[in-house]
Amino acid sequence: KKKIAIMTSGGDSPGMNGVVRACVRMAIHMGCDAFCVYEGYEGLVQGGSLIRKMEWHDVRGWLSEGGTLIGTARCMAFYERPGRLTAAKNMILNGIDALIICGGDGSLTGADKFRAEWPSLLEELVTKGELRPEQVQPYKHLNIVGLVGSIDNDLSGTDATIGCYSALARICYAVDLIEATASSHSRAFVIEVMGRHCGWLALMAGVATGADFIFIPEKPSEDNWREQMCSIVRQHRELGKRKTIVIIAEGALDKQGGKITPTMVKDLLADKEGLGLDTRITTLGHVQRGGTAVAYDRMLATLQGVEAVRAVLEATPETKTCFIAITENKIVRKPLMEAVIDTQKVAKAIQRQDFDEAMALRDAEFSE
Ligand code: F6P
Repeated sequence: KKKIAIMTSGGDSPGMNGVVRACVRMAIHMGCDAFCVYEGYEGLVQGGSLIRKMEWHDVRGWLSEGGTLIGTARCMAFYERPGRLTAAKNMILNGIDALIICGGDGSLTGADKFRAEWPSLLEELVTKGELRPEQVQPYKHLNIVGLVGSIDNDLSGTDATIGCYSALARICYAVDLIEATASSHSRAFVIEVMGRHCGWLALMAGVATGADFIFIPEKPSEDNWREQMCSIVRQHRELGKRKTIVIIAEGALDKQGGKITPTMVKDLLADKEGLGLDTRITTLGHVQRGGTAVAYDRMLATLQGVEAVRAVLEATPETKTCFIAITENKIVRKPLMEAVIDTQKVAKAIQRQDFDEAMALRDAEFSE
């Protein structure tokens, strides 16, 4: 009987529990044993009770739960080979040779490395006498499939990551709440949303709430962003708007690559010599990440979880590590590392302040 393990890793995102539920149940449906690795890579390294066999009923009700019920952790030990060696041993001792990981690009890159190293890890386990040759013999290949769980929608090659629409919905809801009080007092609000290197949440929240102005990392503001923003806000005020909403991604930058902070924007809106607006800052923080998944993320988690089990069962030693994407409304398998490299290209372009390149890469992603 094939034994498939499921793990969540990196920052949690709404829909991860739906992924685990779908993978566990699909694995059982396909006649396999399903395991959950608790606490991300930490669970693989520690083994023991952190690797648990799951039954159909163990994941009952998980679709509507927020966060990740099997836990996640940043595991330093897995970055080092000795940690990965112990992880490999724990997998073999549990009879597991297929792993489905739901996480961001960092977690998925770690998985690909683990798979590439797998044969040499087994060799080392035998050489060191930790496992006997006949023990490792049936586990020659490690099959790994990735699912992208991230609220930032920051992986190239997929239209949506699991969790991004839940976070977006939460932001829109919060902005609606803020708008009521902003309008009452005729105030301005600078609202900071998540997204370290990716402005998708800020951009889409701006579109979905009709914000006055947004700041994102990929398309930094022009040198005259202060004048631009103030002139737009002034125009809106002159048209009779009683509220001003500016959305800023946490990774927002100016053309020189300098950080644009909520305080900078607030001070400008409040400047007595300029607009002189009574201005407040709201940092939405982790409310964007917590809570239950919206319908779209539950659907994505379920359909992609099912596909991940199929992919892991069909993988051969020649198959490249794949991840499950959604492209033009179709659930598809794609080579993992190509997507990771494309994603890193955007981050690197932002770092070296080549913003035209960053925007061109983002455009290409969404028009693929
Ligand atoms: O990657 C998701 C994300 O929510 C980012 O937008 C944010 O910068 C980061 O995680 C915060 O992570 P943590 O609080 O877990 O360190």
